[in-house]
Amino acid sequence: MRSLALNPCLAIALTTTLAAPVSAEDTRPPYQPISPEYGYRPDNEALQKAVDAQDRAAVREHGWRLWAGIMQPLESDPTWPLWLSWRTTFDAFEAKNPPPVTPHRGLPPAHATAGATPLPVSTGNVPNVNTPSPKYPVPTYVIDTFPNAVTKGDDGYSINDGLFFQSNGDIMIATESLSQGGYDAIRADELYLKDKLAALQAAGENVDLPLSYVSTKHMYWPVRADGLTPLPVWQNNLPDWFSGYAGYEVWNTLVAIDPSGSQGKSDVLVDYLYGLQTPEGANIPPQKRHARVVDLQNFYHHKVTQYDWDMFTEADKAIITAASLWLYDEPFKVGDYLATVAMHVVTKEIPSWSFQSVWWSPTPNHGKYAKDRPKDLKAEGPWDQYLLTDSYDFPVDGEGNLDIAVNPYIEGVIHPIATNCRNCHVRAGYPSSPSATPHTSYQNAACPGLLTLLTPDNACFEGIALSDFAWIIPDRAK
Ligand code: HEC
Repeated sequence: MRSLALNPCLAIALTTTLAAPVSAEDTRPPYQPISPEYGYRPDNEALQKAVDAQDRAAVREHGWRLWAGIMQPLESDPTWPLWLSWRTTFDAFEAKNPPPVTPHRGLPPAHATAGATPLPVSTGNVPNVNTPSPKYPVPTYVIDTFPNAVTKGDDGYSINDGLFFQSNGDIMIATESLSQGGYDAIRADELYLKDKLAALQAAGENVDLPLSYVSTKHMYWPVRADGLTPLPVWQNNLPDWFSGYAGYEVWNTLVAIDPSGSQGKSDVLVDYLYGLQTPEGANIPPQKRHARVVDLQNFYHHKVTQYDWDMFTEADKAIITAASLWLYDEPFKVGDYLATVAMHVVTKEIPSWSFQSVWWSPTPNHGKYAKDRPKDLKAEGPWDQYLLTDSYDFPVDGEGNLDIAVNPYIEGVIHPIATNCRNCHVRAGYPSSPSATPHTSYQNAACPGLLTLLTPDNACFEGIALSDFAWIIPDRAK
């Protein structure tokens, strides 16, 4: 194993030198890492031991700590979580960004081909990995108000990615962020360039990311300051085997978020989902459902100030405004809130990677996803109002399958329920374009099972430059 990322002193020194903005327009606050208090360690021996011992409770406990740790207040503005200071996918793949000041790490050795895993056991009934989702045409108000934040394509308008938020094409306001070590690895090895990935492929090499790599995917939900805001909540509304569209739009349980906290636990009727269309393009009328009122204090949340609004790019504003229009038919205003509904946190603390993901729940103490919350964990905010799933390098079940590990908000809008982080992320590599031969994808004829345990040396990855579990690399390289 290479040792560059393992020296904590070096890591701290690099963090300090690199805190300068990447470009003149960068308004991001100074970089703040997860505190080691929350158990985060690049080269995490304790975590490796827990995985070796198949100690599920210990890895889940670690997952809870990471999640709470990454949501802790940003020192320079404690109303935001610290990850707001992290570089995003958008930054990392902008070719014009300067390279980091770190020494070049050199390219990794090719993965050993010895000891190839046996062919995967199929799940028998394998659903299609992509489910047809409702369309969200960009509202005219957004196109008129933020003309530089939209791009017109053959299929209508789409919203560009902003500095803080990226367009998810639905109500969720997404951010994919990277630790400094993660950002630096992508910049230093020019993994943002397709040519570089093609060169790795030609040389029969894979990407090998440093142990300091952390990546996230966080979802905010717009919440108006005046009145109630509907939020569909996952209450196992669909069975595990359901292979059709499972996104939040079709869930039948709702809460109504109340920033005033005064309305108690009453039941209200709410209207939501404006301007949506079926996958075929027919208009979907707004939906009406009963919702239980819940206090905004039960969510990690942030009140958007005028200062924030000025800090956001036009695309950030367009993303947030489209979200509120689609959800409750009003443009988002300064003074309204962003509430955390879901988050993926992925780290390479161990070479086999750690995957954990959380989502908000009105019943956060029920079921298997509530298990193993560390009782001694003292963290700011309602970290215990969320449920957590995990996907570590554990053996498969009797049928050769991994457990389902899915975030109902994040994967629900595109994939069937029975998927697993690890199965899909190990497939990440170059080329992933269907026109290339060979190519990798979320599901291949040679490795169709969405819960099969796949390892990088599986035969179905032959000829592919794997990108070390990071889908953003092949997806975003230019
Ligand atoms: C069926 C495929 C699939 C599944 C299942 C899946 N992901 Fe992803 N994930 C992706 C793709 C594709 C992207 C890249 C999106 C982009 O380019 O912005 C991604 C992006 C991410 C990112 C941003 C950084 C990166 O590495 O690309 C994180 C973090 C992440 N996923 C975590 C998870 C976790 C945790 C789970 C399980 C709870 C999960 N994913 C399940 C396909 C999947």
